[in-house]
Amino acid sequence: MKKNLRLILADRLEPRELKSIYKSYDIVGDIAVIRVPEPLKERSKIVAEAVMQTHKRIKSVWRQASPVIGDFRLRALELVLGERKTETFHKEHGCIFKVDLEKCYFSPRLSYERMRIARQVQADEVVLNMFAGVGCYSIAIAEHSKPDKIFSIDTNPVAIQYMQENIRLNKVEEKVIPVQEDVKEVIEEKLQNAADRVLMPLPEKAYEYLDHALLALKPNGGWIHYYAFEHAEKDEKPIEKIESKVSKKLQKLRINFEVMFKRIVRTTGPNWYQGVLDIQVKEPC
Ligand SMILES: C[S@@+](CC[C@H](N)C(=O)[O-])C[C@H]1O[C@@H](n2cnc3c(N)ncnc32)[C@H](O)[C@@H]1O
Repeated sequence: MKKNLRLILADRLEPRELKSIYKSYDIVGDIAVIRVPEPLKERSKIVAEAVMQTHKRIKSVWRQASPVIGDFRLRALELVLGERKTETFHKEHGCIFKVDLEKCYFSPRLSYERMRIARQVQADEVVLNMFAGVGCYSIAIAEHSKPDKIFSIDTNPVAIQYMQENIRLNKVEEKVIPVQEDVKEVIEEKLQNAADRVLMPLPEKAYEYLDHALLALKPNGGWIHYYAFEHAEKDEKPIEKIESKVSKKLQKLRINFEVMFKRIVRTTGPNWYQGVLDIQVKEPC
């Protein structure tokens, strides 16, 4: 939590309340999303006022009222303070993203990760973004590297509308191709052996879609950026657990591969983590 926000709240909340108000909140454009646990819900306004006092440009403060759920990965939001709007413009690493936080998935916390991937993309690569949302990874890649093209796939029609608008706003029409379809169908029907690099930013289901990521790669191989959630006790390493699961599957499929990089992207709950593996798939032996 930002230091001065914590100081303001320390004057207004009981110490036990301050402790159990989640340590973080998201700022997306001129909207803030706070996480106040259900039992302390009536304290939300105090938190929202403090957020607005600390961040002068914020016009609306919403409370996240459910986890991120469903195929489109959406969350319920309750207005706490300010304008009743969920649409905003968010700037990140020279890109601008128009998003509706109620109708599409967006997380400003993946900003570092988007740039990390964008910097790896080599000239003239064909990239396939399996779960593209409003297009953030795809647009970051188009802005910061020189790919041939990026197939940017999502099933959520609203996310696709925002993606199309974001493509225009960032002037990457030549590079980013929006596709509104189930990614398994797109790959099976049109994009087998097509990509040098596949992004899998749907941690809940990446394991289930790994075969299709492999199917999308060119016969001489390429890269898969594999995101997953994992539970780990104190004596366990979540990233090793993710690697072990994926490695077993790839070995079973007789894939020639190497995990070239791995890291924990963020903590998502008590003992829960999001990790990423950069997997290089090599030519079959
Ligand atoms: C966690 S969000 C990630 C969005 C984006 N990559 C980002 O980081 O902002 C996952 C996205 O996958 C989409 N999705 C879920 N199942 C899908 C499927 N079978 N085919 C294509 N997209 C899908 C959802 O609509 C959602 O926008």
